[in-house]
Amino acid sequence: MGKTARNQNNSQRFGAYLDTEVIYCGDNLDSLMQLPDACVDLVYIDPPFNSNRNYEIFWNEGREMRAFEDRHASTQAYIDFMRPRCAELARVLKETGTMYYHCDWHASHYVKILLDQIFGEGGLINEIIWKRQSAHNDAKQGSKHLGRVHDTILMYSKGKDYHFKHLYRPYDPEYVEQFYRFTEPETGRRYRLGDLCAPGGASPSKGNPHYEFLGVSRYWRYSKENMERLYKEGRIVQTAPGRVPAYKRYLDEGKGVPLGSVWDDIGPLQGAAAERIGYPTQKPLKLLERIIEISSKPGDVVLDAFCGCGTALVAAQNAKPSRHWIGIDVSPTACRVMAKRLRDNCGISEDKRLWRSGRGFQVIGLPRTIEELRRLPPYEFENWAIIELGGTPNRAKVGDMGIDGRLYPVSSIPHRRDTSDQLAFMDVWFPIQVKQKEKAGRPDIDAFEAVMVRENRRKGFFVAFDFTLDAAREVRRFLRSEGREIELVTVKSLLEEPPVVVRRTRQPAVAHQPSLWDEIGTQSQQPNVRVAIGPTPETAPRERADKRRA
Ligand SMILES: C[S@@+](CC[C@H](N)C(=O)[O-])C[C@H]1O[C@@H](n2cnc3c(N)ncnc32)[C@H](O)[C@@H]1O
Repeated sequence: MGKTARNQNNSQRFGAYLDTEVIYCGDNLDSLMQLPDACVDLVYIDPPFNSNRNYEIFWNEGREMRAFEDRHASTQAYIDFMRPRCAELARVLKETGTMYYHCDWHASHYVKILLDQIFGEGGLINEIIWKRQSAHNDAKQGSKHLGRVHDTILMYSKGKDYHFKHLYRPYDPEYVEQFYRFTEPETGRRYRLGDLCAPGGASPSKGNPHYEFLGVSRYWRYSKENMERLYKEGRIVQTAPGRVPAYKRYLDEGKGVPLGSVWDDIGPLQGAAAERIGYPTQKPLKLLERIIEISSKPGDVVLDAFCGCGTALVAAQNAKPSRHWIGIDVSPTACRVMAKRLRDNCGISEDKRLWRSGRGFQVIGLPRTIEELRRLPPYEFENWAIIELGGTPNRAKVGDMGIDGRLYPVSSIPHRRDTSDQLAFMDVWFPIQVKQKEKAGRPDIDAFEAVMVRENRRKGFFVAFDFTLDAAREVRRFLRSEGREIELVTVKSLLEEPPVVVRRTRQPAVAHQPSLWDEIGTQSQQPNVRVAIGPTPETAPRERADKRRA
């Protein structure tokens, strides 16, 4: 329990435990290579494709790759990026496990070939069409294609012994109208008539019984005693004398229609949906709940290696009974978002001690040193600094007008609940500027001063690794001449201890801005009752590092 496989340098012990209820922050290729063979029951991935140019990015060897102009080159790069990751995912999947790969029209045909190569051609169980919307504005006037309204989810297994549970959807009203035509007057229950004649009829090999029942001689499905019992129970009707008796199949006893591979009953997350937390590309919980129900049992381990805001983890944690889970995401922001979501939506705490006793979860690999922070992509560095400072990152990264984030101070909380000017406090905020620079200099400060004057702010925060003497001098001059204060915050000081002013302001940001970002940097201590250990993997790991380089 709680033993981190990666900390064990002895390869025999390596395979003995699997840490679950863990989020790994980092490139999934690295994290996957630390996992033993055949240790997870269900893999779901929803990797980004560079189709959504406003947001989607993927990371390869620390390099940010985005917005390819050449579609073919980008698809090739995407498949090259995914190939070793899918090979690792197949390796960690148990023989009885299932892998779901969520993608869309851009790459699904290439991904299928990729997965066929890895799992073998018989590995594809289903190609699921998730109809995510009924209309799409890509099919507007002037376009020459049909609206692209669905995603594709490819479902693969290693062999025939995978776990599978059939799900059923309610009958649609037209079907009920057409087939369940009768209603029992005494109970109001709807029913249809089922055949009581024996399948195979007189065929001697079937050995069906032949006798007369309610004046009709036939080869029957049941023995005479059973037929008489069913008749007494009111399950057999004869609609007219001499007619062949039939079996009453009640609508309320039917399981429904077996779920097919076209899923049109789970809509997209609408703007106002309660579960929506604002993470781009967030998938609906219902979708992940369904996948988990079909392809896992209580106690199984669910792995999402591109877990974004943690939809799969929340679905696994909240399943009844819950499943174990492992999440991986390269983005520290995503990891903080999902930690908050697990805490808020599942009531479990990010707490190493609780996790050791099986009642919490851990986030491993968040950047903690100056070196690691230097290596973060700019967007992630910016989010990290703002969240550490207790602020709210600016969602619009393009055209942010020199403001990377905002900090709402304690004094801005409204005192009276019923004030007519409830939103007045929104105007009391301090801009935050972040530069991933070794030394921010005078020109950086000049630009920030212009922002503060333009926005008429009396205080602002500037984060960098360090500042030149000129920068510090200019900050003092600005205070003297304009009466506006710029606080210079070094990364080192954020790592050691948040500055006093920041600690004071962190709390109210949570209190009056109940947005996704506000609480990302904090932890709660709520007790919970999770067990945090996975099954013992059967095999020892391979030489993963070598393989990766190969
Ligand atoms: C489409 S989002 C997943 C959304 C998720 N299904 C949800 O419902 O929130 C893809 C995620 O993959 C992450 N990602 C991209 N490259 C990665 C890598 N090499 N390793 C781990 N995560 C990666 C991104 O940071 C992003 O959060």
